[in-house]
Amino acid sequence: MAPGEAHGRLEGRSALVTGAGSGIGAATARRLAADGARVYRVDLQGEVDRHADVTAPGINAELVAEAVARHGGLDILVPCAGISAFHPLEGHDDAYFDQVMAVNVTAVFRLIRDAVPALKRSPHGRIVTIGSTMASFGDAGLVAYGASKHAVLGMTRSVACELGPFGITANCLQPGAIETPMTAPAFADMPEFRVYWEKKAALGRLGQPEDIADVIAFLASDDARFFSGQGFFVDGGAMQRQ
Ligand SMILES: NC(=O)c1ccc[n+]([C@@H]2O[C@H](COP(=O)([O-])OP(=O)(O)OC[C@H]3O[C@@H](n4cnc5c(N)ncnc54)[C@H](O)[C@@H]3O)[C@@H](O)[C@H]2O)c1
Repeated sequence: MAPGEAHGRLEGRSALVTGAGSGIGAATARRLAADGARVYRVDLQGEVDRHADVTAPGINAELVAEAVARHGGLDILVPCAGISAFHPLEGHDDAYFDQVMAVNVTAVFRLIRDAVPALKRSPHGRIVTIGSTMASFGDAGLVAYGASKHAVLGMTRSVACELGPFGITANCLQPGAIETPMTAPAFADMPEFRVYWEKKAALGRLGQPEDIADVIAFLASDDARFFSGQGFFVDGGAMQRQ
């Protein structure tokens, strides 16, 4: 089977993807739909079903209700909306730290919490959160982002423990450097950043959004039914190299 080829394995499933207007979220929405899922796409911007700010009070319950009403249930949740920028620790303002935590952590928590009743009604509930290599390691200038991604991984592990008895899996995918609008400024401003990641990856290249979306589709499928509570790198082998 060719990479990205549709399986039909998600036929009849309903999915909610945030951050679906761009990058990894957009590729995920396309991939889940190609596999047969009905996808409710949410983002601040872009070509989606609903423009919404996931940090707005009460919005996550609304989004879940809309997805359920439109597609008759909810089986797959992918909170993919996220933000990141380099900010040195000195002079790092509170507002940016709070914003990163609001989008990358609090909104993910609220969406998962508000989706629990619907996911419990599904015979194959799936939650796939998006961590980062920064959920396991650190880097200069990424204090807020690193804190947020460690939190997402920790949250996912506990969610997996709590919802496992209801047949719901939860996993945290940890991408390496992926070419999306999020990383475009860094790759443009710092050519050495691109070279670093290309060299660091055992596979010798940057990731594409589809490299991540295909793994998310696997995690959302029955093939991954006994896989839960995991955080794992999808990084072309980058984190295995010294
Ligand atoms: N690109 C990478 O190298 C990389 C690596 C590891 C993890 N990630 C994670 O993958 C996820 C997707 O990132 P991407 O690279 O596709 O970035 P992206 O910028 O292309 O997409 C992120 C999307 O999230 C949306 N978004 C941001 N704040 C929002 C809000 N408050 N409400 C609703 N939508 C909001 C943006 O509008 C954007 O469309 C993020 O969680 C990111 O942290 C990315």
